[in-house]
Amino acid sequence: MAKTVAIAIDGPAGAGKSTIARRIAKEMGYYYVDTGAIYRTVAYFMDLLGVSPKDTDGVERYIDELTVQIEYDEDGLQHMIMNGMDVTGDIRTQDISQKASLISAQPVVREVLLDMQREVARQHNVVMDGRDIGTVVLPDANVKIFLTASAEVRAKRRTDELLAKGQKADFSRILQEIEQRDYQDTHRAIAPLKMCRDSVKVDTSEMTIEQVVQTIRNIITEKVG
Ligand code: DC
Repeated sequence: MAKTVAIAIDGPAGAGKSTIARRIAKEMGYYYVDTGAIYRTVAYFMDLLGVSPKDTDGVERYIDELTVQIEYDEDGLQHMIMNGMDVTGDIRTQDISQKASLISAQPVVREVLLDMQREVARQHNVVMDGRDIGTVVLPDANVKIFLTASAEVRAKRRTDELLAKGQKADFSRILQEIEQRDYQDTHRAIAPLKMCRDSVKVDTSEMTIEQVVQTIRNIITEKVG
């Protein structure tokens, strides 16, 4: 099999990774892999069983009962299939965001998901976003980008997004949740969120989506042509 190309985009919650990664993947005709959605699916599964994301024994006991599949629809949107059921919409709540962050610190979860993510990248050209893609999952990725923005900007974007959908949004609460997730994701023992030496940092605090996309296109062209 020909060697595949991988573009890794890591960064904290709400930095715009999925919006950007999806756009770039579409332009390049690559698979877009949102790895956060996989952790969210595990968190959702354990939640349905009443297993706390901090309960190591419980998570270890039930993880084998879960099968996770990634499917793509005709628009290239990633769907998460949990034991045959499409849970794509169910995993997008604030509650599951927090639980996914906690469950992602469980060694057994990271171990199971590692192979799955690597397998997708072995078979397809990918733009993969997450927290540990450049550092752990695909250390040989052709391009590594660390996408970030200040916690305030990320919380403001999230607040505006919810308000635009007609949902309730409390900026200070969202900011607090983002800061808590940042702390958990950067302080866990295994594969914490951190920038690697060979990644390019893009701070999007003062940038529009178009500017970010263009910046990333330039980085990719420079690295892979
Ligand atoms: O990207 P997201 O917000 O959907 O991710 C949800 C949580 O999953 C995040 O807080 C930490 C965890 N995660 C991870 O540990 N490693 C990844 N590669 C992606 C997500």
